[in-house]
Amino acid sequence: MPFRTYMDWVLHDPGHGAYGSGRLRIGPDGDFATAPSLGPDFAALLAVQVADWLEQLQRSAPAAHPLALVEAGPGEGSLAADLAGALNRDRPDLAACTELVLVEPNAGMEARQRRRLAGCPLPCRWSSFEALAQAPLRGVLLAHEVLDALAVERIVWDGALWRRQVVSLHEDASAGLSLRLEPGEPLEPEAAEGLHALGLLPPSPQRPPGWCTELHSGLDPWLCQAAAVLAAGPLLVIDYALEARRYYAPQRPAGTLMAYRGQAASGDPLVAPGEADLTAHLCIETLERAVHGRVPPGRGPARPGAGPAPPRPAARPRRSGGAAAPARGPAAAGGSPCPRRFPLAGLQPRWPAGGHPPFPAGARSPRWLNHPAWGLLCGDAFNVLVPYRGLL
Ligand SMILES: C[S@@+](CC[C@H](N)C(=O)[O-])C[C@H]1O[C@@H](n2cnc3c(N)ncnc32)[C@H](O)[C@@H]1O
Repeated sequence: MPFRTYMDWVLHDPGHGAYGSGRLRIGPDGDFATAPSLGPDFAALLAVQVADWLEQLQRSAPAAHPLALVEAGPGEGSLAADLAGALNRDRPDLAACTELVLVEPNAGMEARQRRRLAGCPLPCRWSSFEALAQAPLRGVLLAHEVLDALAVERIVWDGALWRRQVVSLHEDASAGLSLRLEPGEPLEPEAAEGLHALGLLPPSPQRPPGWCTELHSGLDPWLCQAAAVLAAGPLLVIDYALEARRYYAPQRPAGTLMAYRGQAASGDPLVAPGEADLTAHLCIETLERAVHGRVPPGRGPARPGAGPAPPRPAARPRRSGGAAAPARGPAAAGGSPCPRRFPLAGLQPRWPAGGHPPFPAGARSPRWLNHPAWGLLCGDAFNVLVPYRGLL
């Protein structure tokens, strides 16, 4: 089967998938930790920004329906619970007119979120992108470490062609059944064409046969669905990402895929299928291209710097992969036409005049990509913030 199908199954199959079954546990005592699972600090920082956005939405249409704080892929529900708590404590005026909406495709995870959010001070409901698109909301949509859980394509160079990698089942008299990664069919010309923009074509002698990486073919359909959820308000994606030149550097011969189980990381994506988390970094340029597909013709991006300020970055969570992380990457856009398109907002860091706050020793400074349409904070020791706005 194609690697993408394998990754989708081992993560999301309702009976056997790591998320689908609800087997994976997030947090210091679970399989891996994320920033929100380490305590309420991350949510407390983010709550300031979320409150700003909700307030802007409220001011722009005071008589409109209640506001929504939507979280896609809430995991254990920690971020949603802590954000709701912080809003209720610090901005009761906004909390009084905001509902919490959770979008979780995996029933096993939803069951635990319901338990975690049992005492939530905000009205709380679970829904799907499809259902929300029927009556789009005014609010904020968050996705923290969700896009890295979308199934990726894996491609492998055979010395002459890029091929999709497949997972095959073998039976051996002595070793029994085993899974193997093998080169499959060559990429179609259209898909191969997209590799030029990522620096994977023309071929380089620095990438020997067997060199492999990832493409993020699930990104565009996900963004299309997310775009339909909000009638007004920003989408904030927080995740791990690399620029294409780093993602697809010849020195990264196996992409970024990592498996996590019991707080142990492995570069082997076939390890403990259905028991381990599988995650791949995002490629910034691929994400930019997917986002730009959503700028409506004639509408153009919002003013640079007019966008909301990001929260201060949180310390790198356990699941970031670390310096030894092997690499894999994103894929070409596909899927259905986007139901609604986004104008994008620029970002300005809200650092004090003197510059950014101090970084942990040894961390590289984050940098701002001053794209005319948007900005993102990118640094090895921090999450990446990729905000883009709806109709604010
Ligand atoms: C790595 S966990 C992140 C959990 C949480 N946001 C955190 O940071 O602790 C990924 C979450 O996204 C969910 N998920 C996977 N695919 C998804 C999709 N297509 N849309 C929304 N959520 C998804 C998983 O079930 C899981 O809850």
